[in-house]
Amino acid sequence: MERYLVCMTGASGSIYGLRLLRALAEGLDRASPPGTELHLVASTWASRVIAEETGRDLGSWLADLGPGRIRVHAPEDLSSPLASGSFRLSGTVVIPASMATIGALASGTVTNLIHRAGAVALKEAWPLVLVPRESPLSLIDLRNLTSLAEAGAAVMPASPGFYHRPGDIDALVDGFLARVLDRLGAPNPLARPWLGPRSTQGED
Ligand SMILES: Cc1cc2nc3c(=O)[nH]c(=O)nc-3n(C[C@H](O)[C@H](O)[C@H](O)COP(=O)(O)O)c2cc1C
Repeated sequence: MERYLVCMTGASGSIYGLRLLRALAEGLDRASPPGTELHLVASTWASRVIAEETGRDLGSWLADLGPGRIRVHAPEDLSSPLASGSFRLSGTVVIPASMATIGALASGTVTNLIHRAGAVALKEAWPLVLVPRESPLSLIDLRNLTSLAEAGAAVMPASPGFYHRPGDIDALVDGFLARVLDRLGAPNPLARPWLGPRSTQGED
């Protein structure tokens, strides 16, 4: 059984998590065995930042993705299956990841389901991708991120590339999310491999 978990926290960049959910749902529906599950935990502050940045609430974004497609877990529910290593996940991603959540994951402090799910992924050695968003990073943030990389997480700062010449913000974000999906090991409807400079392909 394939299962992926998206955790959204209260860092800026909610578009990364929302577009990743869309791409994951699309990729899983196209390429995975029927029954592949997609789970979501959004922290209280993720919901606030989504409303601030998009003018819409999380519920309306999820409705766009199809009713029931994504299993949503309350961030305070530590009795969720996601809190146990017996509920095997194919991959977990925290996107965007606030420095508060990065600090909790690095210290092993668990006060919500996102912290617990991250701790479970680390102890079980399951794929864990972290997409931190903060600038500048303090020495404490950098040390926390180093600890998490040492513990096995893939740290992918929300730092999109421009060499695909994205025409708008959605294209810019999707170019970055293609790398996240690859690292997560999930089907990747956004994949667009770099084939070298356009000039060598006759495009310029
Ligand atoms: C509009 C807004 C933008 C924020 N952006 C960031 C950010 O980019 N990075 C960050 O680490 N925290 C940011 N924060 C602060 C976090 O939301 C705050 O630390 C919160 O406690 C995070 O909790 P969580 O990790 O449980 O979601 C932002 C808060 C607001 C209201």
